[in-house]
Amino acid sequence: MSPLRVLTGITTSGTPHLGNYVGAIRPAVRASLAPGAESFYFLADYHALIKVGEPARIQRSTLEIAATWLAAGLDPERVTFYRQSDIPEIPELCWLLTCVTGKGVLNRAHAYKASVDKNTATGHDADTDVTAGLFMYPVLMAADILLFKAHKVPVGRDQIQHIEMARDIAQSFNHLYGEHLVLPEAAIEASVATLPGLDGRKMSKSYDNTIALFAPREQLRKQIAGIVTDSKAPGEAKNCEGSALFEIYQAFASAEETAALRASYADGIAWGDAKQMLFERIDREVAPMRESYEALINDPSKLEDILQAGALKARTLATPFMATLRQNVGLRNLRSNTETRSAKPAKAALPTLKQYREKDGLFYFKLVDAHGRLLLQSLSFESPRDAAATIALLQTHGSQALGELQARLEPIEGVSEDDVAMALTLLS
Ligand code: TRP
Repeated sequence: MSPLRVLTGITTSGTPHLGNYVGAIRPAVRASLAPGAESFYFLADYHALIKVGEPARIQRSTLEIAATWLAAGLDPERVTFYRQSDIPEIPELCWLLTCVTGKGVLNRAHAYKASVDKNTATGHDADTDVTAGLFMYPVLMAADILLFKAHKVPVGRDQIQHIEMARDIAQSFNHLYGEHLVLPEAAIEASVATLPGLDGRKMSKSYDNTIALFAPREQLRKQIAGIVTDSKAPGEAKNCEGSALFEIYQAFASAEETAALRASYADGIAWGDAKQMLFERIDREVAPMRESYEALINDPSKLEDILQAGALKARTLATPFMATLRQNVGLRNLRSNTETRSAKPAKAALPTLKQYREKDGLFYFKLVDAHGRLLLQSLSFESPRDAAATIALLQTHGSQALGELQARLEPIEGVSEDDVAMALTLLS
């Protein structure tokens, strides 16, 4: 079985704040360190273009976000970390998916509908200032996910609909062309808190209530001083519930530290002192990362090298898979003609999947490519019917059946999953 694949994208449209760190970056970095999972993290700069029309801001945000993730401990050797726009297969797949996506499905996307509703409410034409990019957002996101056969996609609740759409789009594609795309699932971390911002509402760029993750120390102190509190005087007991300061502290502190602050609230700690505690606690976690962040920001060519290496790693998977998908939909080299009725199939150019009996009296099958290279070799079957049933499984499900059949196959050195997938596609 292939390992669990986890993939998520980060839109490069701003500067990371504490809410991004607690809600997305920190849990993702932790998850990437767990054994067993194969993680993909990418900078969604094509998505950023939908919202941001300032080239310098796109570039700056890409730099800051890349530096942030690495400073927060993402290990590019361990995960695949890349920039969306370095993978030409993403827009290529996006088009194939566009052609199987119902326009009505996109009409129902929350972000698009919100824009339309706002226009209608203010008496404008429904599509005023709505770009086709905004409309197509879910399809591009589906391409991001489906190209890498991701199983799990960690996202915020606001993105669940997009993952459901990616599933629907994958299903439409599979229905038409065979089971090539993996259906992804959203992974919502229940234990991850949404952080309140300076004004007590959810910390978000759109509310302008954020605390920058890597602001210089003194600026961090100033921003924390700006968190809203009530007007209780020093010595008066304070409420933890509904206190933004308390909630932010909790997101960084251990259970004991949190209990201690709770007791101080009850004892009437002065707001200024509580803010100082919060500042120190956050700075303790952030300071070491801030140092590597600054080093990275000041060395853009190092970051670029890391992203290029990531793109190479990503494309090792994306390029052959995209070739298979092109083949599937009929964007084919004319020499590999397999389906025109008048012309005889070019037999010699096709792989073969055949069953045979060995001297041992048992039954086997093998897959050999057009040049005679062995791609799959089965173990023995007692009955020819069992061998035939397994072959039928490969013929109908293609490479999707491989995981299940692993125990029936002999490993062959130097043959990649994509070579096998391509051969099976040519056969189907
Ligand atoms: N839409 C996501 C967000 O705004 C970012 C994103 C783009 C993404 N492509 C993705 C997330 C693919 C997960 C998978 O948060």
